[in-house]
Order: sequence, then structure tokens, then C-alpha cells
Amino acid sequence: MRFLILSDIHANWEALTAVLEDAASRHYQAVLCLGDVVGYGPNPNEVAAWVRTHADVVIRGNHDKACSGSTAFDSFNMAAQCSSRWTREELLDDHRQWLRNLDRGPVLVENFDLVHGAPDDEDRYMFHEHEAEAGLRSASEQLTFFGHTHVQGGFVGELYRRSLEVSRLHALPDQMAIVVDRRYLLNPGAVGQPRDGNSRAAYCIYDSAMRIVEFCRVEYDIRTVQDKILAAGLPEELAFRLASGD
Ligand SMILES: [Fe+2]
Repeated sequence: MRFLILSDIHANWEALTAVLEDAASRHYQAVLCLGDVVGYGPNPNEVAAWVRTHADVVIRGNHDKACSGSTAFDSFNMAAQCSSRWTREELLDDHRQWLRNLDRGPVLVENFDLVHGAPDDEDRYMFHEHEAEAGLRSASEQLTFFGHTHVQGGFVGELYRRSLEVSRLHALPDQMAIVVDRRYLLNPGAVGQPRDGNSRAAYCIYDSAMRIVEFCRVEYDIRTVQDKILAAGLPEELAFRLASGD
């Protein structure tokens, strides 16, 4: 089966539609979503409606919880608090209810897991090797897809006797084979708010029969999203960071 894996769409309709157009030729059969459907971006209802209709599996992200009112957002920075408050008011009741009821990761698909943050804690970030090591040790499956950091790539773990050598993927190949004696935490990157120095929308395709992951990037109409963010009265920094990709 070929899966389209999306994470951190963050209510960015232009990024989502560019990804779907780019991915169409890659012949996927199912869509998986790793959370943070909403928050930050100006189109929460449109994006929520698309994900509800088209994604086969969706897990919740911290912004989905905050924007649907199932958790507080006082631990967020000011821009995130402001966007959460705006999104709560903007969301249709039906979408808010759907977001509140999303599953918490890990969720098993075939023989791999989906999490938002980390296998041991849905809200924990894994930016560095030491943060990934705990995740690799607690992961139930050889392969776990995660989001939350908005950084495309992830980590590979190799067991040497009893020690686990964890390395971060730096130069991402277009295609990467999943090798039997290694463990993987892989991040498709953020569709709607990349933070890895590359402003293009990120996603991945996983072919579970071939055991190959394809990391993909695509340009989208950032200017239109920035205009919508500013017109909605959302913080300017949420518009500017889309162009810098960090
Ligand atoms: Fe996010």
C-alpha cells in the first residue's frame, strides 16, 4: 500500500492543495495525518473538512486539543495563544467536536505507528538525538512516523550490543529504504508551517510493500496565505515565518 503522510497542516489551505496536486502523480491509496490540522493558519474549517473527508487515519496534535477547547493554551507562546483563541471562535461546532474526539497516538497502521510528538508522549518534541533515543526505546514498532517539530527527516537507531546508536538524518535522500536491523522515527515535515529553513510545503509517501519512504517538498502560494493571516488579524509573525521557513 502507498500512503500519503501529512503532518502539521495548520489550517494552511494553499499548502495543502499544493501538496495534493504534487502528490497526485505518486499514486497513493490512503492518507494518514499526524495531527495539528488547525492552529496558526487562516483556514481551519476548510482544512478540517478536507481531512475529515479524505484522511483514513488522523491522530490529534497539541494545537487540535487547544483549538477545540479540550486543553488550555496558556503554555503556548503569545502568537500560538492568539491563533488558538481565534481558531476556537472560527471553528464550526461540528469540526470542533471532531477535533476533540481525535485519537491520541500511537496508532498502529499495518506494522508501523503514527504519533504526533513522541512514542512515549504525544506532546514531546524530538529535535535532537538524545530526545529521539527515548522515543526509539519506547517505540513498539520498527518504524514510527511523527510530526510536531515541523522538521522533515527524523532519526535512525542501530543496536550495537546493548547500546543504541541514534543518528539524525541530515541530507535527505529523495527515497530511503527501511532496513531490517534498524529502527526509525521519521517526520514527513510540516505541510502548513515548515521550520527547517525550507519554506516549501513538506510531506512524504510511504510504500509499505517496497518499504521505501519518499521525502517531498513543493512550492505553494505563500503570499496568499500571508494576506489571509493579516486580514484575519492574526499575529504578523505567523505570516512572516511562512516565507522564511523557520
Ligand atoms: Fe504543529
